[in-house]
Amino acid sequence: MDEEKLNQFMGKLVSDMGAAAMLANVILGDELGLYKAMADSRPVTAQALASSTGCNARLIREWLSAHVASGYMEHHQGLFVLPEEQALALAIEDSPVYVAGGMMVVASMFHDKDKLVAAMRGDGGLAWGDHHPCMFSGTERFFRPGYKSYLVAQWLPALQGVVDKLVAGANVADVGCGHGAATIVMAQAFPASRFAGFDYHAPSIATAMDRAREAGVSERVQFAQGTAKNYPGKDYDLICYFDCLHDMGDPVGAAQHAWQTLRSDGTVLLVEPYADDSLDQNITPVGRLFYAASTFICTPNSLSQEVGLGLGAQAGEARLRQVFMEAGFKHFRRAAQTPFNLILEARK
Ligand SMILES: C[S@@+](CC[C@H](N)C(=O)[O-])C[C@H]1O[C@@H](n2cnc3c(N)ncnc32)[C@H](O)[C@@H]1O
Repeated sequence: MDEEKLNQFMGKLVSDMGAAAMLANVILGDELGLYKAMADSRPVTAQALASSTGCNARLIREWLSAHVASGYMEHHQGLFVLPEEQALALAIEDSPVYVAGGMMVVASMFHDKDKLVAAMRGDGGLAWGDHHPCMFSGTERFFRPGYKSYLVAQWLPALQGVVDKLVAGANVADVGCGHGAATIVMAQAFPASRFAGFDYHAPSIATAMDRAREAGVSERVQFAQGTAKNYPGKDYDLICYFDCLHDMGDPVGAAQHAWQTLRSDGTVLLVEPYADDSLDQNITPVGRLFYAASTFICTPNSLSQEVGLGLGAQAGEARLRQVFMEAGFKHFRRAAQTPFNLILEARK
């Protein structure tokens, strides 16, 4: 046994346990409005933060101390600061790096542990709708900042000729739309276009309808329950899959349905979790996060559906290209990427 290696590994594990314990503290801070109360990066005492947020001062001091020990905050003589960079990630919901809301996805994994034990010992399947409800809102809050920041500004312009069509008035389908975060971002940017969001999970569709009403776009945005292989309509100019194709049991069948419902000059926008093509290349912080979530969420969901291909969240571009080639598409390319996402384009 190499004692040095053991010590290094123990250091890593203790750090990871601390990270997991901090995750619960981040969720507290998000729910209680503590980060938002510190978002201006002004120094604050525990007592003042407790008063302004209506919380217990002794517990607030402990929570602040945990943040200092984690490098999430700074302190000096009893005053605590959430630095600007940390505020972007933890307090500012519209910032491209906001992650506090998405922590609920990880929280859902703890809630669903017993279901995973059963899936692991059984056929591997656990359907999207059988997860703890905090997974649905957590997913929306994890992905929405990226869609708001990049979808209209960078991803759609990276596709051939798509923005011109959207400006002129196009028919768009958002398949596996969840709470409709991406659909609504597009609808707000392109008022001449019509959008249809489909998802097989009925409660998500109900929430998406509420979101469209709140955003004032429900006249041009329809949400309906439907699977990736049976949603209605034809002659779509653009069919989108946002972080969902790998969750499906039959991605090839889904892509075939897209082929059939797409205009001859139409485009598929496939947004998938960032991944390279092999496990060795995905030994990164992002790869780690996605493999771990995929064990609990994406892969069991795929295994719960017909075919049960189980692509997983780290399928990578080469495997995704195969799916679209098998479905009959002739063109497939990487249009853009972010640290979290691959943005892929498929055409007939
Ligand atoms: C990770 S979520 C992404 C939701 C949304 N696109 C977003 O980016 O916020 C995956 C979504 O795919 C949906 N889904 C999974 N399999 C499906 C299928 N076969 N047909 C339609 N929707 C499906 C789930 O219900 C879930 O809403």
